[in-house]
Amino acid sequence: MKYALLSDVHGNLPALDAVLGEIARRSDVDAVFHLGDLVGYGPWPNEVVGRLREAGIRGVSGNYDSTVATRYKHCGCRYEDPRQEALSHESFAWTCAHVSDATRAALAQLPFRLDLRPLGGHIAGPTLTLVHGTPLNNTTYWTVDRPDTFCLKMADAAGARAGDLIAFGHTHKPWHRVVNGMHFVNTGSVGRPKDGDWRAGFVLIHVDASGAIALELVRVEYDLARTMHAIIASDLPDDFAEYLKHGGQMAPIP
Ligand SMILES: [Fe+2]
Repeated sequence: MKYALLSDVHGNLPALDAVLGEIARRSDVDAVFHLGDLVGYGPWPNEVVGRLREAGIRGVSGNYDSTVATRYKHCGCRYEDPRQEALSHESFAWTCAHVSDATRAALAQLPFRLDLRPLGGHIAGPTLTLVHGTPLNNTTYWTVDRPDTFCLKMADAAGARAGDLIAFGHTHKPWHRVVNGMHFVNTGSVGRPKDGDWRAGFVLIHVDASGAIALELVRVEYDLARTMHAIIASDLPDDFAEYLKHGGQMAPIP
Protein backbone atom coordinates (compact mmCIF):
# COMPACT_ATOMS: atom_id res chain seq x y z
CA MET A 1 0.00 0.00 0.00
CA LYS A 2 1.19 3.47 -0.78
CA TYR A 3 -0.38 6.39 1.12
CA ALA A 4 -0.08 10.13 0.56
CA LEU A 5 -0.46 12.18 3.74
CA LEU A 6 -1.05 15.91 3.49
CA SER A 7 -1.40 18.39 6.32
CA ASP A 8 -1.91 22.08 7.02
CA VAL A 9 -3.43 23.18 3.71
CA HIS A 10 -4.61 26.38 5.41
CA GLY A 11 -6.94 27.63 2.70
CA ASN A 12 -4.28 27.55 -0.02
CA LEU A 13 -6.17 26.04 -2.97
CA PRO A 14 -3.40 26.32 -5.63
CA ALA A 15 -0.99 24.49 -3.28
CA LEU A 16 -3.56 21.74 -2.64
CA ASP A 17 -4.27 21.36 -6.36
CA ALA A 18 -0.54 21.08 -7.12
CA VAL A 19 -0.18 18.34 -4.50
CA LEU A 20 -3.25 16.45 -5.78
CA GLY A 21 -1.85 16.79 -9.31
CA GLU A 22 1.50 15.33 -8.24
CA ILE A 23 -0.25 12.44 -6.46
CA ALA A 24 -2.30 11.72 -9.60
CA ARG A 25 0.83 11.85 -11.78
CA ARG A 26 2.57 9.24 -9.65
CA SER A 27 -0.34 6.83 -10.28
CA ASP A 28 0.84 4.30 -7.65
CA VAL A 29 -0.76 6.00 -4.64
CA ASP A 30 -3.53 3.81 -3.22
CA ALA A 31 -5.05 6.23 -0.68
CA VAL A 32 -4.80 9.87 0.38
CA PHE A 33 -5.49 11.28 3.86
CA HIS A 34 -5.18 14.75 5.34
CA LEU A 35 -3.94 15.60 8.84
CA GLY A 36 -6.00 18.71 9.45
CA ASP A 37 -5.73 22.50 9.51
CA LEU A 38 -7.67 22.82 6.27
CA VAL A 39 -8.53 26.46 6.95
CA GLY A 40 -6.95 29.61 8.42
CA TYR A 41 -4.46 32.14 6.99
CA GLY A 42 -5.41 31.39 3.36
CA PRO A 43 -8.21 32.87 1.24
CA TRP A 44 -9.99 29.67 0.12
CA PRO A 45 -11.29 27.83 3.24
CA ASN A 46 -14.56 26.69 1.64
CA GLU A 47 -12.93 25.70 -1.63
CA VAL A 48 -10.25 23.61 0.12
CA VAL A 49 -12.82 21.74 2.20
CA GLY A 50 -14.95 21.29 -0.93
CA ARG A 51 -12.05 19.99 -3.00
CA LEU A 52 -11.13 17.37 -0.39
CA ARG A 53 -14.74 16.26 -0.08
CA GLU A 54 -15.11 16.00 -3.88
CA ALA A 55 -11.94 13.89 -3.98
CA GLY A 56 -13.18 11.68 -1.11
CA ILE A 57 -10.12 12.49 0.98
CA ARG A 58 -10.76 11.89 4.67
CA GLY A 59 -8.63 13.10 7.54
CA VAL A 60 -8.35 14.33 11.10
CA SER A 61 -9.17 17.56 12.90
CA GLY A 62 -6.48 20.20 13.25
CA ASN A 63 -6.58 22.92 15.90
CA TYR A 64 -7.82 25.43 13.31
CA ASP A 65 -10.60 23.08 12.22
CA SER A 66 -11.78 22.31 15.74
CA THR A 67 -11.60 25.91 16.98
CA VAL A 68 -13.52 27.26 13.95
CA ALA A 69 -16.06 24.44 14.21
CA THR A 70 -16.69 25.04 17.92
CA ARG A 71 -16.47 28.86 17.69
CA TYR A 72 -13.63 28.85 20.24
CA LYS A 73 -12.10 32.16 21.30
CA HIS A 74 -8.88 31.73 19.25
CA CYS A 75 -7.21 29.24 16.92
CA GLY A 76 -4.97 27.60 19.51
CA CYS A 77 -1.86 28.67 17.57
CA ARG A 78 1.38 29.75 19.25
CA TYR A 79 2.74 33.25 18.65
CA GLU A 80 6.40 34.29 18.50
CA ASP A 81 5.72 37.99 19.17
CA PRO A 82 2.85 40.47 19.73
CA ARG A 83 2.60 41.33 16.01
CA GLN A 84 2.26 37.67 15.09
CA GLU A 85 -0.40 37.35 17.77
CA ALA A 86 -2.37 40.29 16.31
CA LEU A 87 -2.12 38.84 12.77
CA SER A 88 -3.19 35.45 14.06
CA HIS A 89 -6.31 36.96 15.63
CA GLU A 90 -7.10 38.74 12.33
CA SER A 91 -6.80 35.46 10.48
CA PHE A 92 -9.07 33.66 12.91
CA ALA A 93 -11.74 36.38 12.77
CA TRP A 94 -11.58 36.45 8.94
CA THR A 95 -11.82 32.67 8.70
CA CYS A 96 -14.72 32.41 11.16
CA ALA A 97 -16.56 35.10 9.18
CA HIS A 98 -15.96 33.46 5.78
CA VAL A 99 -16.56 29.74 6.35
CA SER A 100 -19.94 28.59 5.11
CA ASP A 101 -22.33 26.57 7.25
CA ALA A 102 -21.48 23.52 5.12
CA THR A 103 -17.75 24.03 5.73
CA ARG A 104 -18.24 24.47 9.46
CA ALA A 105 -20.30 21.29 9.57
CA ALA A 106 -17.63 19.41 7.61
CA LEU A 107 -14.92 20.61 10.02
CA ALA A 108 -17.04 19.61 13.02
CA GLN A 109 -17.33 16.06 11.67
CA LEU A 110 -13.58 15.43 11.43
CA PRO A 111 -12.33 12.71 13.79
CA PHE A 112 -9.46 13.43 16.20
CA ARG A 113 -7.38 10.51 14.91
CA LEU A 114 -7.45 7.78 12.29
CA ASP A 115 -5.76 4.36 12.47
CA LEU A 116 -4.82 2.48 9.30
CA ARG A 117 -3.86 -1.18 9.02
CA PRO A 118 -2.21 -1.51 5.59
CA LEU A 119 -1.96 -5.31 5.81
CA GLY A 120 -5.66 -5.56 6.59
CA GLY A 121 -6.04 -5.96 10.34
CA HIS A 122 -6.82 -9.70 10.07
CA ILE A 123 -3.10 -10.44 10.37
CA ALA A 124 -0.31 -8.80 12.38
CA GLY A 125 1.20 -5.77 10.76
CA PRO A 126 1.93 -2.12 11.33
CA THR A 127 -0.64 0.40 12.49
CA LEU A 128 -0.36 3.89 11.03
CA THR A 129 -1.86 6.46 13.38
CA LEU A 130 -2.77 9.85 11.94
CA VAL A 131 -3.19 12.89 14.21
CA HIS A 132 -2.71 16.63 13.76
CA GLY A 133 -0.47 17.60 16.69
CA THR A 134 0.06 14.64 19.02
CA PRO A 135 -2.10 11.68 20.12
CA LEU A 136 -3.09 13.76 23.19
CA ASN A 137 -4.22 17.05 21.61
CA ASN A 138 -4.02 18.96 18.34
CA THR A 139 -2.22 22.02 19.72
CA THR A 140 1.14 20.69 21.00
CA TYR A 141 4.05 21.28 18.59
CA TRP A 142 5.95 18.04 17.95
CA THR A 143 9.12 19.64 16.63
CA VAL A 144 12.25 17.87 15.43
CA ASP A 145 14.16 18.92 18.56
CA ARG A 146 11.82 16.99 20.86
CA PRO A 147 13.87 14.25 22.57
CA ASP A 148 13.33 10.56 21.93
CA THR A 149 11.68 10.33 25.35
CA PHE A 150 8.92 12.66 24.13
CA CYS A 151 8.36 10.47 21.05
CA LEU A 152 8.14 7.36 23.26
CA LYS A 153 5.68 9.08 25.59
CA MET A 154 3.46 9.94 22.62
CA ALA A 155 3.80 6.41 21.24
CA ASP A 156 2.67 5.09 24.59
CA ALA A 157 -0.33 7.46 24.59
CA ALA A 158 -1.25 6.25 21.09
CA GLY A 159 -0.77 2.58 21.95
CA ALA A 160 1.96 2.28 19.28
CA ARG A 161 4.54 -0.53 19.24
CA ALA A 162 7.71 -1.36 17.29
CA GLY A 163 6.92 -1.45 13.57
CA ASP A 164 4.12 1.13 13.86
CA LEU A 165 4.08 4.69 12.57
CA ILE A 166 2.62 7.94 13.92
CA ALA A 167 2.11 10.76 11.42
CA PHE A 168 1.33 14.36 12.36
CA GLY A 169 1.71 17.93 11.11
CA HIS A 170 0.99 21.22 12.91
CA THR A 171 4.58 22.58 13.01
CA HIS A 172 4.73 23.06 9.21
CA LYS A 173 8.29 21.67 9.18
CA PRO A 174 8.79 18.11 7.85
CA TRP A 175 10.97 15.51 9.56
CA HIS A 176 11.21 11.76 10.12
CA ARG A 177 12.83 9.71 12.86
CA VAL A 178 12.82 6.07 14.00
CA VAL A 179 12.88 5.44 17.77
CA ASN A 180 12.73 1.90 19.19
CA GLY A 181 11.50 0.63 15.82
CA MET A 182 8.64 3.14 15.64
CA HIS A 183 8.42 5.70 12.85
CA PHE A 184 7.58 9.30 13.69
CA VAL A 185 6.89 11.53 10.71
CA ASN A 186 5.94 15.15 10.49
CA THR A 187 4.42 15.64 7.05
CA GLY A 188 5.19 19.35 6.81
CA SER A 189 2.62 21.72 5.31
CA VAL A 190 0.88 21.89 1.95
CA GLY A 191 -0.20 25.50 2.11
CA ARG A 192 1.98 27.35 4.64
CA PRO A 193 5.48 25.84 5.05
CA LYS A 194 7.71 27.33 7.74
CA ASP A 195 11.03 25.67 6.89
CA GLY A 196 12.21 28.32 4.41
CA ASP A 197 11.08 26.35 1.34
CA TRP A 198 7.94 27.92 -0.20
CA ARG A 199 6.95 24.75 -2.09
CA ALA A 200 3.99 22.63 -0.97
CA GLY A 201 5.03 19.63 1.13
CA PHE A 202 3.53 16.21 1.75
CA VAL A 203 4.65 12.65 2.53
CA LEU A 204 4.40 9.34 0.71
CA ILE A 205 4.43 6.20 2.86
CA HIS A 206 4.97 2.79 1.34
CA VAL A 207 4.21 -0.32 3.37
CA ASP A 208 5.35 -3.57 1.72
CA ALA A 209 3.86 -7.05 2.17
CA SER A 210 6.17 -7.75 5.13
CA GLY A 211 5.01 -4.56 6.89
CA ALA A 212 8.28 -2.70 6.29
CA ILE A 213 7.82 1.06 5.95
CA ALA A 214 9.57 3.43 3.54
CA LEU A 215 8.99 7.18 3.39
CA GLU A 216 9.46 10.01 0.93
CA LEU A 217 9.17 13.68 1.92
CA VAL A 218 7.97 15.42 -1.26
CA ARG A 219 7.92 19.11 -2.28
CA VAL A 220 6.09 20.51 -5.30
CA GLU A 221 5.94 23.96 -6.84
CA TYR A 222 2.54 25.64 -7.12
CA ASP A 223 1.08 28.91 -8.38
CA LEU A 224 2.42 31.00 -5.49
CA ALA A 225 1.63 34.29 -7.29
CA ARG A 226 -2.06 33.36 -7.51
CA THR A 227 -2.23 32.74 -3.76
CA MET A 228 -0.29 35.91 -2.96
CA HIS A 229 -2.61 38.00 -5.19
CA ALA A 230 -5.71 36.47 -3.62
CA ILE A 231 -4.43 37.24 -0.11
CA ILE A 232 -3.63 40.83 -1.04
CA ALA A 233 -7.04 41.25 -2.73
CA SER A 234 -8.79 39.92 0.39
CA ASP A 235 -9.11 41.49 3.83
CA LEU A 236 -6.54 39.06 5.19
CA PRO A 237 -3.27 40.73 6.30
CA ASP A 238 -0.91 41.26 3.32
CA ASP A 239 1.92 39.91 5.51
CA PHE A 240 0.56 36.42 4.89
CA ALA A 241 1.50 36.70 1.20
CA GLU A 242 5.12 37.58 2.00
CA TYR A 243 5.19 34.84 4.61
CA LEU A 244 4.34 32.22 1.98
CA LYS A 245 6.95 33.56 -0.43
CA HIS A 246 9.69 33.11 2.18
CA GLY A 247 8.52 29.75 3.45
CA GLY A 248 7.83 31.30 6.84
CA GLN A 249 11.44 32.40 7.35
CA MET A 250 11.01 36.16 7.49
CA ALA A 251 13.07 38.69 9.34
CA PRO A 252 11.21 39.71 12.51
CA ILE A 253 9.12 42.84 11.97
CA PRO A 254 10.13 45.48 14.55
FE1 LIG B 1 -1.28 24.51 10.89
